[in-house]
Amino acid sequence: LIVPSVLEIVKEKNFTTIPPRYVRLDQEKTEILNDSSLSSEIPVIDMTRLCSVSAMDSELKKLDFACQDWGFFQLVNHGIDSSFLEKLETEVQDFFNLPMKEKQKLWQRSGEFEGFGQVNIVSENQKLDWGDMFILTTEPIRSRKSHLFSKLPPPFRETLETYSSEVKSIAKILFAKMASVLEIKHEEMEDLFDDVWQSIKINYYPPCPQPDQVMGLTQHSDAAGLTILLQVNQVEGLQIKKDGKWVVVKPLRDALVVNVGEILEIITNGRYRSIEHRAVVNSEKERLSVAMFHSPGKETIIRPAKSLVDRQKQCLFKSMSTQEYFDAFFTQKLNGKSHLDLMRI
Ligand code: SIN
Ligand code: FE2
Repeated sequence: LIVPSVLEIVKEKNFTTIPPRYVRLDQEKTEILNDSSLSSEIPVIDMTRLCSVSAMDSELKKLDFACQDWGFFQLVNHGIDSSFLEKLETEVQDFFNLPMKEKQKLWQRSGEFEGFGQVNIVSENQKLDWGDMFILTTEPIRSRKSHLFSKLPPPFRETLETYSSEVKSIAKILFAKMASVLEIKHEEMEDLFDDVWQSIKINYYPPCPQPDQVMGLTQHSDAAGLTILLQVNQVEGLQIKKDGKWVVVKPLRDALVVNVGEILEIITNGRYRSIEHRAVVNSEKERLSVAMFHSPGKETIIRPAKSLVDRQKQCLFKSMSTQEYFDAFFTQKLNGKSHLDLMRI
């Protein structure tokens, strides 16, 4: 099930027709809100305020509201340099624009999901997304695939290492702030991420002459604990489902888009919500994004925090290891059900 490169398709001379495997007739025609009324309501959290003693309370409440009501927020003043983010953008561009001969060495091997390709491909006749991806586990270091790491261009590898470690620190602070506002103990949430399993997914969505016929990234919710996403070149495309409508997450310069994943929904016993989202493409410009996923170590047991369960007098989810959760996530037939529903008690 090796998927072709969309970037190569659009580079072909005389490319005009979209290959049938990418054409969606089943496209959900849910209204796309272009009036920015809901877009502008997506919470924006200021990391500096979140960490300062004087402003902390109001920013903490905002964080709590964002995670409960939206499952998404934009994070500003997070401390990652603007010039560093520019460098990352250039290097991601260069990386995806390497000759195919070079990229082939980094293509997914059968049965593995790291490398260039797509995820969740289970059959030969399944529709494909209009985008190329590169997936890599960055932490724990012992889980890094050396056949991939060693083939990354060294400056890009270094940039990725710096970026992933900065994002990891941000994730840790956010977990601590969430635990404090939820009034749960360290061992019920933060500690589960000590041996963090971090992976990166870089998305490159080439422009498409008929963007309405394809989908950049099929709607899904994230399995991870917390996802931190950078809309690298500030091109719009990410949409989140809010009260049955698709809402555009407008790129804010240098902001990181943070979203609650299913594992965090389990740990917070449903208080924080993992929201469905998707990416659409446009006819003019490619769109680049970098998603970093943070989950507990593979052997760690995920369960609803006991303090919350005691207070809510109800435990909503089963306990399982991260590995078991991911195995279920990627293999179970859902038959239209949300994956999280299978984990409900
Ligand atoms: C993702 O959900 O993994 C990425 C969405 C995006 O490209 O904005
Ligand atoms: Fe996602």
